[in-house]
Amino acid sequence: MTGEHILVIDNQKSLCRMLEAVLQDNGYTVAAFTNPVEALESFHPDRFSMVITDVKMPEMDGLEVLAAIKKVDEEIPVIMITGHATVEMSIHALRSGAFDLLTKPFEPEELMQRVRNGLRQTALILENRQLRREIAEQEKFGEVIGKSPALLNVLDTARKIARRDIPVTIMGESGTGKELVARAIHEHSLRKGRPFVAINCGALPDTLLESELFGYVKGAFTGADQDKKGLLEMADGGTLLLDEIGNLPMNVQKALLRFLQEKEFYRVGETHPTSVDVRILASTNADLQQEMQEGHFREDLFFRLAVVQIRIPPLRERRTDIPLLAAHFLEEMNIRFGTAVRGFTPEVCEVLINYGWPGNVRELKNVVEACLAIEQGSLVGMDGLARLMDISRYDQEKGLDTKVQKYSEALESFEHNYFTNLLRHCGDNVEISARKADINVATLYRKIKKYSLR
Ligand SMILES: Nc1ncnc2c1ncn2[C@@H]1O[C@H](COP(=O)(O)OP(=O)(O)OP(=O)(O)O)[C@@H](O)[C@H]1O
Ligand SMILES: [Mg+2]
Repeated sequence: MTGEHILVIDNQKSLCRMLEAVLQDNGYTVAAFTNPVEALESFHPDRFSMVITDVKMPEMDGLEVLAAIKKVDEEIPVIMITGHATVEMSIHALRSGAFDLLTKPFEPEELMQRVRNGLRQTALILENRQLRREIAEQEKFGEVIGKSPALLNVLDTARKIARRDIPVTIMGESGTGKELVARAIHEHSLRKGRPFVAINCGALPDTLLESELFGYVKGAFTGADQDKKGLLEMADGGTLLLDEIGNLPMNVQKALLRFLQEKEFYRVGETHPTSVDVRILASTNADLQQEMQEGHFREDLFFRLAVVQIRIPPLRERRTDIPLLAAHFLEEMNIRFGTAVRGFTPEVCEVLINYGWPGNVRELKNVVEACLAIEQGSLVGMDGLARLMDISRYDQEKGLDTKVQKYSEALESFEHNYFTNLLRHCGDNVEISARKADINVATLYRKIKKYSLR
């Protein structure tokens, strides 16, 4: 027995029996009705995992049955059986939310194939719903999403230092969410409601960077035909994020150090200082220690800026964040594109979870976005993904993973993956999971506890 209960409706007694027998042989329990009105009376969303209904019935049309069921349970898969499906009728049924159509006569195996697909989709939808719930329940820190211990650790530190008015340096590879965390720190600080200004120190030539940051007065250089405020002044009362701080030229480093010490600076071309009240946050994906050793970065500035350092780990070191992030981006893109893609197939999930993500969260976001732009169905499948990602490269990466571990460690990592996947596939249902894995429920509970899986 699979634990799945299926509602079968067909006014033709013999076919109804046949359906019942085939489903039961495959381990499902069945409630079979020849009268759709009676069937609907006994329909209850928590009771059934699927509905199979005939289309042509004297008491009530199959499409009406479909509509009635969808009214009660929008997600349940409904398979329609027809004698001869016209294209028009098929389209109508699918538009009204039917999962699939089966034309008589059909082989039992054909039926079972569709049933399995339908149930798999329900499991995925439930999983997606669960992920959305997790996201909604997360204690919010800005827009930052994730539940891996590594990320929660980062957020914990960030939350603590947010209200202390000191500089913070956020380190991490490109696309790990440094700017997002910086914004969240600002939002959780006493400067909330005041400006948050970000500047990419690597994107501007040296002289321009200086005048962008500190502003200038009329006549300071050719083209300076009026006074202009710099970003420091624009951020007055708030926070200034210096992005890619490793690229700060020496003259700006010196001026910035002065600002951190004295709270004042000189506009370009001006001889008296200006003071403002701005908290400086910095971010970098470079190794500042090394920059310092090589003489590209001032030590005194480093120690001022990096009073507190936060390091955001790359996505590949916190893979448990991937499903949550992917579900979040899916939702976001659905809203943006007006699509209704409901999730990812298990194969796609596996690739997403195991891929190396050199571009980190930004790359994941781009991939989800691109998947949605080309996806026609209700789930993102491998076809779509393969068009966007070099999956062979991903396979190679998997093959290269030949680091020798202790047996006990390898076993633990296998078990962790295995049971995570198992539960996911079974919609977090322990009984079903245990049955599928052919282990007893008590063992499964022990593993869930050991690896904190729920
Ligand atoms: N934990 C997260 N939750 C939700 N979105 C995230 C998360 N981390 C990153 N993102 C998203 O990924 C994208 C890149 O993030 P962000 O710009 O903060 O990265 P970065 O570390 O500053 O990158 P770079 O070094 O290239 O400037 C953004 O669209 C951001 O919203
Ligand atoms: Mg950035």
